[in-house]
Amino acid sequence: MPDISQSIPPRPQWRTGIGFLLAAIGSAVGLGNIWRFPYIAYKNGGGAFLIPYLTALITAGIPILLLEFALGHQKKASAPKAFALIHERWEWIGWWSVIFIMFGIMAYYTVVIGWCFNYLCFSFTQAWGSDPNTYFFKEFLHTSSGVWDLQGLNLRVLGAVALIWAVNWAITWKGLENGIERAVKFMMPVLFGITVIIVVWSVFLEGAADGIRLYLTPDFSKIANVDVWVAAYGQIFFTLSLGFGIMIAYASYLPQDANILKNSVIVAATNSFYEIFAGFGVFAVLGYMAFKQSLPIQETVTSGIGLAFVAYPKAISMLPFGTVFGVLFFFLLCIAGISSSISIIEAFTAALSDKFGLKRRQMVSLLCAFGFAESILFTTDAGLYWLDIVDHFINHYGLISVGIFEALVVGWLFKTETLKMHIMERMTPAKNKTVLRRAILNIWVFCIRCITPAALGIAIINSLITEFSAPYEGYPVSGIIVLGVGWLLVTHIAAMGVSRLPWKNRQEQE
Ligand code: ALA
Repeated sequence: MPDISQSIPPRPQWRTGIGFLLAAIGSAVGLGNIWRFPYIAYKNGGGAFLIPYLTALITAGIPILLLEFALGHQKKASAPKAFALIHERWEWIGWWSVIFIMFGIMAYYTVVIGWCFNYLCFSFTQAWGSDPNTYFFKEFLHTSSGVWDLQGLNLRVLGAVALIWAVNWAITWKGLENGIERAVKFMMPVLFGITVIIVVWSVFLEGAADGIRLYLTPDFSKIANVDVWVAAYGQIFFTLSLGFGIMIAYASYLPQDANILKNSVIVAATNSFYEIFAGFGVFAVLGYMAFKQSLPIQETVTSGIGLAFVAYPKAISMLPFGTVFGVLFFFLLCIAGISSSISIIEAFTAALSDKFGLKRRQMVSLLCAFGFAESILFTTDAGLYWLDIVDHFINHYGLISVGIFEALVVGWLFKTETLKMHIMERMTPAKNKTVLRRAILNIWVFCIRCITPAALGIAIINSLITEFSAPYEGYPVSGIIVLGVGWLLVTHIAAMGVSRLPWKNRQEQE
């Protein structure tokens, strides 16, 4: 076991408990909540999707979130160090999560935020005109004929992506308290405020009730399908930023006496409430569009990307004060995206700082420069295909695999009793509740050891079966191997490599 107990510079700490909560909620609430969730819910049984969704939240979402918070807090460490402290053999799990998030998700996530920024500007003139579909895919993205037909760089997108990276850099460069904590204290109230305005505005539009009915009407026949359950687990992982290493790093900055269980429940409940609530707004707008065009509402529902960049612009053009609505909506997406992306940079920065004791500002600058260079790959005319393939493989295999490893390593190879006591000792003292608390934590341990790995294992096996039956979305096999499997493999090899490097201890740094 390497001596890593003293290998870090003094650890920063959240200035306030609310600062931590806002940052964790900011990480969870992102692009995935606002337009991904409503579409997934609709596609997978509408109101009935809430059954697998809430089951996934209870059996995997909250248990893994609690695990990540407790592990980060107890070890006072980022993901790689926390796993190394369980046993050096497991350090790679932490590196794998932070590497594939930083150089996988982050690379294209910033590109999608860049699109949102472009659309924020387009809202002023409604530049998409009367055919937002052609505008988005052809005029704006110049989408090429296939995965390997890169053609050229899209300068409009590139410029916006540079700006998004610059904002991320400016926030994270200032550090935890002066950068991230300050930023989320401004961004999150704005985000919640705009969401309420948009949802309330939407639900009072003509035809909104039909949209909401479509969103909520349960189709129980769908929940017998394994794919629906896989979609629910995938959504929970992405939306709660689980397996990203973020929650481990964020919890490591909490004071000694922080109530871990309470924080986990608040973060998970707020995030789920937010996405279910945002769904009302999204479907109300679709109902309004169907009403205005006298179309069956099913025809207005499109896939995730199309929903924000095709269906919404169309609705904005029809709405009275549509410009205001458009600016608010795309600004909302930008803030939601940035509050999540800064947390990805922080998870990686914390990992590098723990292992190598590097200076934060240089590290953040280098990371952002490197990350931006990587994002350029997604701003070519084939960027949309690349994004789709990398996103699919990272979500279906990367995140879920990390979840399985986390649950197995912590559940079976680490004294969960220690972690359980750590959580228990930090609960608010209350008489007569000890038995209940023990029961809750015993259920948690059971979930971590058995339910979570089993559920995630079934999800991954099911995805693999689908994968082998036909190439994902009909993409060429070469694209899937290089961008999907290759991306995961390279990050895995990099994680193995970094975990073999020696720890720089504090004495050497001083
Ligand atoms: N949790 C973030 C989202 O939902 C990554 O977009």
